[in-house]
Order: sequence, then structure tokens, then C-alpha cells
Amino acid sequence: MEVGIIGSGIIGLASALALVEAGYSVKVVARELPGDDSQNWASPWAGAGILPYPESEGHDLQINTFKYYWALAHRDPTTGVQVVDVTEYFDDRDDDSAIWYKRLVPKYRVLDAQELPEKAKLGIRYQSLTVNPAIFLPWVQNVLLDKGVRFYRAEVKSIDEARSILETQVIVNASGLGALDIAADKAVVPVRGQTLHVKSNSHEIVMFQGSHYTYQIPRMYSGGVIIGGVSQEGSWDKKADAVTRTDIIQRFKELTQGKVDYSDPQKHIQDIVAFRPGRKGGYRLEREGSVIHAYGFNTLGYTYSYGVGLRVKKLVDSILGESKPPRCRL
Ligand SMILES: Cc1cc2nc3c(=O)[nH]c(=O)nc-3n(C[C@H](O)[C@H](O)[C@H](O)COP(=O)(O)OP(=O)(O)OC[C@H]3O[C@@H](n4cnc5c(N)ncnc54)[C@H](O)[C@@H]3O)c2cc1C
Ligand SMILES: *[C@@H]1O[C@H](CO)[C@@H](O)[C@H](O)[C@H]1NC(C)=O
Repeated sequence: MEVGIIGSGIIGLASALALVEAGYSVKVVARELPGDDSQNWASPWAGAGILPYPESEGHDLQINTFKYYWALAHRDPTTGVQVVDVTEYFDDRDDDSAIWYKRLVPKYRVLDAQELPEKAKLGIRYQSLTVNPAIFLPWVQNVLLDKGVRFYRAEVKSIDEARSILETQVIVNASGLGALDIAADKAVVPVRGQTLHVKSNSHEIVMFQGSHYTYQIPRMYSGGVIIGGVSQEGSWDKKADAVTRTDIIQRFKELTQGKVDYSDPQKHIQDIVAFRPGRKGGYRLEREGSVIHAYGFNTLGYTYSYGVGLRVKKLVDSILGESKPPRCRL
């Protein structure tokens, strides 16, 4: 069976991958494709850490994703996927009872009180992964091209328009923020992020969550790390803001007790501003007739990606199951 996908961000690509691995034939239509550095899509601009989140839905999706990237990092590091040490601090909890992924990630341990920076109430350390989107997105696209997937560049205004371009009945809507002006789903909302790519030879993820959201994520092969961040729901401001940049640098310096200072402009590679595909009430991952919805993954698109792909594949299987002729009762 043929499956059409709208969108070639990490969600559309992971869906395509899971579908072709299962033997489906796949076509993709997207306004932006891997290699495009427009701010109109999110995937090139993520850190991207594979970072499960305590209060989140879809643990199975995150577990499957973790396993996929873990295997890939060991099989082929030229994919831009790398194993890294992670330190997470929280000031909104003092025990690790909500850290459901402690049984998933290698080398998990809770930090002692004297290892915590000022104001943190809980610290944990473990191993996880980073994905460099500039390397990984084109890599996946090439794998898909090798497997016969075809990519079409177009902005579609409706599912039916996608059907007529791709000539497939089954459509996966993985359009991220989509075309907001025509969004049939009013719950979809941009969540603005601003980060700074700085020169550094650190290979560790450091993350502080709770009253503020401050992090460093290494970008494999780039000679640097991404520091952040902010989450500004509803903002469409495409320009990097100098006050936010200074604030992020300052927050990171405090987090490392003054040991890491990225304020020297010589270290700055690039300001990044991009818009996460948010959705009030959480992501949408379900089937409606011959349409499969897969959007609204907000801050965690990479962390959910391959798990979403596998779920999309299952939902497509269920369509196939229904279209089989009834069994002969002899
Ligand atoms: C600063 C920042 C840091 C982040 N860090 C992380 C991180 O560390 N870990 C993590 O897991 N996630 C992170 N994220 C979130 C992650 O980037 C997103 O969740 C993810 O990229 C969403 O992928 P997507 O495929 O749903 O959407 P997108 O990447 O936005 O892709 C949407 C696709 O649909 C296409 N499209 C849209 N509308 C149409 C249309 N009408 N017709 C045709 N094509 C259309 C687009 O062209 C594009 O191909 C971060 C995001 C930001 C902004
Ligand atoms: C497709 O997804 C977008 C979000 O990317 C959403 O706004 C739109 O309503 C969806 N289309 C349909 C027909 O569900």
C-alpha cells in the first residue's frame, strides 16, 4: 500500500522511515525539506537532545525513540547521533519519584546534596543522546531516497490537495505548525525558542528545569554547544533578542557556579530563533478514517520521533487490516 506524508520535519521523516522499513511505499510532500534553513519549520533548529520528560504522555513512544537512537549512535556515528552524559537539575521537586525513565537510561544516579548548584533541589545524572539536525535530517532523507521514497516540494492547503499531488488515499499529517492561517485545528500554537550556538569542547548535556529553563546541548561535529532557552507561547517574533541572549549566558554561568562563561562574543557562532509546534492539550497522534494525525510535539519532537513513526506505522496497518477482503468461511 502507498502512504502519503505531509511534512518532512523529524516527525514526517521518522514516520517515513518506520513505514518503509515495514515495506510500505511512501511519498512525502513538504514546504520545507532537509537542508532548508528557513524559520518556518522547527526541526533544523532543535538542540537536539533525546531527553525524556517527567510529566509527559507517551512513555512507550519515548522509550522506543531512545532505543532507536542508542542503536544508531553505536552503529553509525556519521549520522550525527552521539551518546552523551546528561546532568539534570530541578527546583520544582526534591525526589526522583516522577523520573519514570530512570529504568531506561544507562548509568542513572541521583546526585548528593553537595553536588547540586544553588537553588536546585534534585539532581540526576545518566547517559542519553544528542542529534545534530544539520547532519541527521539529510542522512535520513538519503536513506529514504535509497529506499525509493519520493519527495515533492509544495505547500498544501488541505488533505485533499496532498492526496491529489501524491496520488495516495492514506495521508499522514505531520505538518508541525502547518499553515497556521488555514489551521483546521485551533489548538495548534507556536512556542518560540531562542538559543545561542557557542564554541565549546564540552560533550555534556546540562539541563535546569522548574522556575527557569536553562540548558546546554552539544552539537556533534560543530565544535560547539547550543545554550538556551525560552518557551514563549504565541510569539511569532523571528528576530533574536539581545536581552534574552545575555540572560541565557548569565543563567548558564550561574548554573555552573561561574565556571562556564560564554559571554565572549568571539565564542558566538549563531543566534537561533525558531517555533516549536505546540498544541493546547498536548500532541495529536491518532487515526481518523484514512488520515493519521501526527503533530503538536512541541519541545520534544526528537524525543518522541521514532516512537511516533512506529505508532504511525501501526495506525496504517489498521487501515490495511480493514481493507482486506473478508475471510472465506469454508
Ligand atoms: C530552539 C529549539 C530547541 C529544541 N530542542 C529540542 C530538543 O533538544 N529535543 C527535542 O526532542 N526537541 C527539541 N525541539 C523541538 C523540536 O524541534 C520539534 O518538536 C520538532 O522539530 C517538530 O518536528 P515536526 O516534524 O513536527 O515539525 P517541523 O520540523 O516544523 O516540520 C514540519 C514540516 O511540515 C511542512 N509543512 C508545514 N505546513 C505545510 C503545508 N501546509 N504544506 C506542506 N508542507 C507543510 C514543513 O515544511 C516541514 O517539512 C526544539 C525546538 C526548538 C525551536
Ligand atoms: C494538519 O495539521 C495541522 C497542524 O500542523 C493542523 O492545523 C491541521 O488542522 C491538520 N489538518 C487536518 C485536516 O486535520
